[in-house]
Amino acid sequence: IKIYADGAVLEDMLTAYQKGVVSGFTTNPSLMKKAGVTNYVAFAKEVLAAIPDLPISFEVFSDDFAIMQREAEEIASWGNNVYVKIPITNAFGDSSIPLIQELSKKGIKLNVTAIFTLEQVRATVDAFAPDTENIVSVFAGRIADTGVDPIPTMKAAAEICREKPGTELLWASSRELLNIFQAEASNCDIITCTPEILNKLSNVGKDLEQLSLETVQMFSKDSAALGFT
Ligand code: E4P
Repeated sequence: IKIYADGAVLEDMLTAYQKGVVSGFTTNPSLMKKAGVTNYVAFAKEVLAAIPDLPISFEVFSDDFAIMQREAEEIASWGNNVYVKIPITNAFGDSSIPLIQELSKKGIKLNVTAIFTLEQVRATVDAFAPDTENIVSVFAGRIADTGVDPIPTMKAAAEICREKPGTELLWASSRELLNIFQAEASNCDIITCTPEILNKLSNVGKDLEQLSLETVQMFSKDSAALGFT
């Protein structure tokens, strides 16, 4: 499975890039807002100047399909490694499928985002033009946040994505390191991870007895400050 970095803090993105732990990047408007980005284009250009050779997804921000189309074409022109993120609907719930068809016909690399159902996966994959490269972002973590196991959905989504060569399934909104293994077992091509999850990659394969000891040592160290005599 390929691991991407999810976020819009430039420093975190560069750290992940320099460490060589990721093979791509995803951003979204909410992550940019959280990171304090105030100039979308300037931010994107800075990121792309530093990371010219790995896939990076940037999302359109309008809810008007004609404007979204113009934004998508501009974003695509920023670099060969850019995937244009199109939400599966606009904020009014109108389907983005006609826009996806239009952009895909032009050969624009798309990352269709905010997907939660297999019906949305099916419509998206069918909308991609042949011989194009695209990502389907299914929000497994947000599905799990409703108490529903996302794994059956991801496995079925992977089968649908296989039908259109060039389509990669991405496990989005990851919540914990375990999701990397779940995404791999579900035949996802990519999982995008927050810096917090990426930092836990060093835990993989750790001896559990040793981890138990380290946990007790943490309690011991912290109890020294509590004044219990
Ligand atoms: C990535 O492409 C998604 O935008 C991101 O993983 C969403 O994460 P969230 O559901 O935790 O906001």
